[in-house]
Amino acid sequence: MHQKTSRIGKEKRMQGTYTHAVITGGSSGIGLAAAGVLVSSGCTVLLVSRDARKLQNASEILSAQGGAERVSTLQLDVTDRTAVQRELAPVCEKQPPDFVMNSAGMTFPGYFSLTDSDVFDQVLSTNLTGCWNVLKTVVPFMERGSSIVNVSSLAGLVGTFGYTAYSASKFALVGLSEALRSELVHRGIRVHVLCPPDTDTPMLEEENRTKPPETRALSGSAGVMSAEAVAAAMFRGMRRGHFMIVPGMQGAMVYLLKRLLPGLVYRVADSIVRKSTVENT
Ligand SMILES: NC(=O)c1ccc[n+]([C@@H]2O[C@H](COP(=O)([O-])OP(=O)(O)OC[C@H]3O[C@@H](n4cnc5c(N)ncnc54)[C@H](OP(=O)(O)O)[C@@H]3O)[C@@H](O)[C@H]2O)c1
Repeated sequence: MHQKTSRIGKEKRMQGTYTHAVITGGSSGIGLAAAGVLVSSGCTVLLVSRDARKLQNASEILSAQGGAERVSTLQLDVTDRTAVQRELAPVCEKQPPDFVMNSAGMTFPGYFSLTDSDVFDQVLSTNLTGCWNVLKTVVPFMERGSSIVNVSSLAGLVGTFGYTAYSASKFALVGLSEALRSELVHRGIRVHVLCPPDTDTPMLEEENRTKPPETRALSGSAGVMSAEAVAAAMFRGMRRGHFMIVPGMQGAMVYLLKRLLPGLVYRVADSIVRKSTVENT
């Protein structure tokens, strides 16, 4: 019996087919792109986020892709631990998810000296504690063969100018995911961490308005991907059984260089920052 369910779990992963998905941050950007792939494959998807209008809009987009009856929404702030438990647990009890993606996230890029501690708290509570809250609620319902993807960032692998709060939250998310991976692998549940480079989403559009020029110069050097390309890379990485998924050639190169030659990465980044500071003074 154990061997049979284990084999089913493995086959499921190899085919990348899931039955019931929960996606926080599913109303927009990368989460919405992943929802589109899942809905097209016949999976039901629960989109979780705060803004009812965005949820409605996302639901209409997915319906137009032929998934009307497979999409439901839950208006929820992942930072509200009590509400996450109260609202999400009954849904998972009724329909245990076999795919959970924590994509809800936010950032306020800015110089450390100008970043309020309240902003730090808000970024940490959404990107890290919010993910924790959801995991604490959903994992008890997840069965062998299920998968979890936590969305970190390339800024969760390379500490990036202008992202002190954001990088702190995303590095921590990699640590949380790695530790959780080692616990859940024994239950046949796969944990992955997705570290996208700059991705063309409403979040990037918003942060581009306030980014310090040095941050803009650095992110420009790694290119911008579409949310659909990031979602496709995520599912590809999952099928290959990768824990760490870094979409795009440039992202993968930065990740590799940071691991092998961190000093070189610092020197290149410092030189881009210095050049951009000179240009902007
Ligand atoms: N875009 C990039 O360049 C990039 C690069 C690397 C990593 N990422 C990461 O990718 C993830 C998705 O970002 P995105 O670019 O797709 O941004 P996005 O289009 O702005 O989507 C963010 C999603 O998170 C939801 N959300 C934010 N705070 C929430 C909260 N407290 N509770 C519940 N839902 C919340 C938003 O909906 P509501 O506002 O309605 O709640 C929205 O659905 C984030 O974790 C981000 O850090 C993005």
